[in-house]
Amino acid sequence: MSTLSNKPIGVFDSGYGGLTVLKEIVNHLPEYDYIYFGDNARAPYGSRSFETVYHYTLECVEHLFSMGCELVILACNTASAKALRTIQQKDLPIIAPNKRVLGVIRPTTEVVGKHSKTRHVGVFGTIGTITSDSYPIEISKLYPQLKVSQEACPMWVPLVEYNEINTLGADYFIKTNVDSLLSKDSNIDTIILGCTHYPLLINKIQKYLPEGITLISQGEIVAKSLVDYLNRHPEMEQRCSKQGKIEFYTTDSIDNFDKAATLFFGKEVKSKHLLLKHT
Ligand code: DGL
Repeated sequence: MSTLSNKPIGVFDSGYGGLTVLKEIVNHLPEYDYIYFGDNARAPYGSRSFETVYHYTLECVEHLFSMGCELVILACNTASAKALRTIQQKDLPIIAPNKRVLGVIRPTTEVVGKHSKTRHVGVFGTIGTITSDSYPIEISKLYPQLKVSQEACPMWVPLVEYNEINTLGADYFIKTNVDSLLSKDSNIDTIILGCTHYPLLINKIQKYLPEGITLISQGEIVAKSLVDYLNRHPEMEQRCSKQGKIEFYTTDSIDNFDKAATLFFGKEVKSKHLLLKHT
């Protein structure tokens, strides 16, 4: 197939968090075309039900398919935890048997065992990701000897979505959740930032962590895992177009998106608006 046809790689998140993943993907694979899709009008997903997250995610994935994407990365742990498996197993065979949707949880769990020396790890995530138990379940398959403690941080995504990162309110909520996780297990030496929004809060998270604890952000992990996936799947690699173009779409205000996304992505962002059925 011609590499000139428009077949970008889709990168999806409920809002701005997936930009932390896109940034690393573009660093590793600059030659490909990308569409970033933030469902900001319906963010946060983290406190929504399984059914709602599944329906929202499927609707966004179908949109990305209709825009030419053959491969979509759910750069969102909540969507990966609550929607990915159903989309892969139930929907894809019917709606798009040759297209692929990948998540962020599995590649993250693959690396966590290499970091922890105490074999005690922690996970910060949204209510949806934490109550799904996706991390403990996936980690136990690869590293059954690891003890996993989790902490849901429902206020952290709104702090990013409303750009309240540098406020005293952010300090309060971050310190509360950090202390709470460490009170569950004081031997934790490695913590997964199990939400793609959280790297945007990393300075404050580090401020309240004792020294010697490694924080694992997903951007680079997911980017390397995508490099590996494309190497192992030349049939997909050849279908992705390569003109180095990136387009941004949001379901909410483009002015707000452009301001925040330019800050988070580190380059000027000019988005387009997308109206979905249920927004
Ligand atoms: N970035 C999403 C994640 O990784 C945030 C989910 C939300 O919208 O609450 O889980």
